Amino acid sequence: MDHFQLRNGELYCEDVPLAEIAEAVETPAYIYSTATLVRHVEVLQSALHGIPNPLIAYAVKANPNAAVLATLAQLGLGADVVSGGEIQRSLAAGIPAEKIVFSGVGKTEAEMRYALEVGVFQFNLESLDEADTLSSVATSTGVRAPVAFRVNPDVAADTHAKITTGVAESKFGIAIDDAPAAYAHASALPGLSIQGVAVHIGSQLTNLAPLEQAFTKVGELIAKLRSEGRDIRVADLGGGLGVPYNPDLPHPPSPEDYGEMVRRITRDWDVRLLFEPGRLIVGNAGVLLSRVVRVKPGAAHPFVIVDAAMNDLMRPALYDAWHKIDAVRPTGEQWTANVVGPVCETGDTFATARKMDRTSAGDLVAFKTAGAYAAAMSSTYNSRPLTPEVLVDGSSWAIIRPRVGIESLIAADRIPDWLKATA
Ligand code: LLP
Repeated sequence: MDHFQLRNGELYCEDVPLAEIAEAVETPAYIYSTATLVRHVEVLQSALHGIPNPLIAYAVKANPNAAVLATLAQLGLGADVVSGGEIQRSLAAGIPAEKIVFSGVGKTEAEMRYALEVGVFQFNLESLDEADTLSSVATSTGVRAPVAFRVNPDVAADTHAKITTGVAESKFGIAIDDAPAAYAHASALPGLSIQGVAVHIGSQLTNLAPLEQAFTKVGELIAKLRSEGRDIRVADLGGGLGVPYNPDLPHPPSPEDYGEMVRRITRDWDVRLLFEPGRLIVGNAGVLLSRVVRVKPGAAHPFVIVDAAMNDLMRPALYDAWHKIDAVRPTGEQWTANVVGPVCETGDTFATARKMDRTSAGDLVAFKTAGAYAAAMSSTYNSRPLTPEVLVDGSSWAIIRPRVGIESLIAADRIPDWLKATA
């Protein structure tokens, strides 16, 4: 459930009409709902009832805006980060280092040193080479790094290939069969302190079976590692639970069903469980608000040309993702149309032959489920200003990232001296 609802015939975010924000901020703009963020955290927390002291480390990559992070920090969430920048953002937003887990396949020595200095809760290692490097960085800093290995269970996650991470060919983690040897190797390294095991098989998962399969393998691994004398106190179960994008398709498993499965599989593990949800927390807490520039006839269907484009919302171009597109002031009339942006690529297409609210030039539309991997992946391609972001809380709203305009983009470039004469 989210807090973007029709009231008196127009779309609101909580108690604020989206049209009011569009008037003030102009479009395109991302709008987030605090009440929805809070609700998603509470739903997950309650789905995990009975699990002692779970650490919910929000996957910052999904939406790293400082105001979003601060909201989640106040709710007690930690952070799953994949770069030094994400550590810095998390700390700045009030997430304590002891709730930060550092994932990622290419951590640099500088990032390792920084993470050790601030004292993150855990490093999720992805290779023996990384273990060696972290050990020497830690030794030179005079500390021991708390580590887990991210294992690759070779399970097909049943999602888009570009966001599948736990099959044998993927770049992530170490093969689960190689894990005992990896832990033996790491236990001999002076700068590491082994504390756990981690797994993450993909994103937007709409089926619990692959997760259950992966967790079952992790449970067997924990028993084996313990029998070999390893001290396993933490199991990081990753993120990945899908959210409903298309209300006409079967809904992904609920957090409650996920929690039930996790309780059943991990019952005897005797570890602290760590979760890394991203999309589940923020996905349906955001929309991309856009205005129709014009409507142009097409061979099969009219083209609704909106002022948002693939640079603002990459997901349809990158993953063929489906986002619901609703009129902010629906007339009740529906039609079938293509929705496209102004960028000069055919890939800048949000929807093809979509049955949707009929709209004309000047109308506002909302791209739903645009809180995760949306603003986070935006760019200024085609010299388009970077999309602003707005946070609503009840009847209040605030700009949490102003539009980065073309003047700032031009000012960020530098013309070398040898070109200055002609520039
Ligand atoms: N943990 C790790 C190690 C991850 O790599 C990810 C996501 C997560 C947690 C959070 O997964 P979530 O709960 O959000 O599914 N840009 C793509 C999604 C990329 C996901 C990358 N990793 C998209 O727009 O669908």
